[in-house]
Amino acid sequence: MSASPIIAPSILASDFSRLGEEIRAVEAAGADWLHIDVMDGHFVPNITIGPDVVKALKPHVKIPFDVHLMIAPVDPYLEAFVAAGADILSVHPESGPHLHRTVKRIRELGAKAGVVFNPSTDPSAIDWIIEDIDLVLVMSVNPGFGGQSFISSQLRKVERLRKMIDASGCDIILEVDGGVTPQTAPSCLSAGATALVAGSAVFRGGPDKYAENIRALRGG
Ligand code: DX5
Ligand code: ZN
Repeated sequence: MSASPIIAPSILASDFSRLGEEIRAVEAAGADWLHIDVMDGHFVPNITIGPDVVKALKPHVKIPFDVHLMIAPVDPYLEAFVAAGADILSVHPESGPHLHRTVKRIRELGAKAGVVFNPSTDPSAIDWIIEDIDLVLVMSVNPGFGGQSFISSQLRKVERLRKMIDASGCDIILEVDGGVTPQTAPSCLSAGATALVAGSAVFRGGPDKYAENIRALRGG
């Protein structure tokens, strides 16, 4: 939709032994946000990083931290991630019993609130809370790992959410995450996405390639 989508590199695909350097490099290469995938080995079958790492990374860059929580229960950790520097905190409806309470709490803590849809999750989960959120994230892979193939059926969900957001009149970012490449990005944008998460497609080839990789996601 937008001529200039928000590009949010996922650090899951970066070199974890040099995280500070890696995030400075993607910022210098033109990244708009930094996407941070938090996994607990329980909600998803992989374990990544916690609030201490987010806190350690914060001083390295100025771009917003887009933190994607794949942990359950999620509510006990909201405060720690906002304190660590999350600017946007996104949660899955399945990760707690009261989604409305969770997104309200995120806003109270001073961050923007996002809701994430797994490939099988219906967008109606936000029908009654659309005014309480700032971002929706459509997973175009099953959460847990980088480098998976884009699930095209999710484009229909992006289209549906575009209509829901427009009808609501709310200022909500529509983000897509998983398997986003220069080949799949254009269909996400024409379906109505305004932000793209990309791990492998940004970090492939090493730091010399990051600017070119980000440009390719914007459409060259
Ligand atoms: C998957 C994560 C994604 C993932 C994207 O659970 O939410 O952010 O790292 O990686 P790519 O772009 O490689 O599919
Ligand atoms: Zn993610």
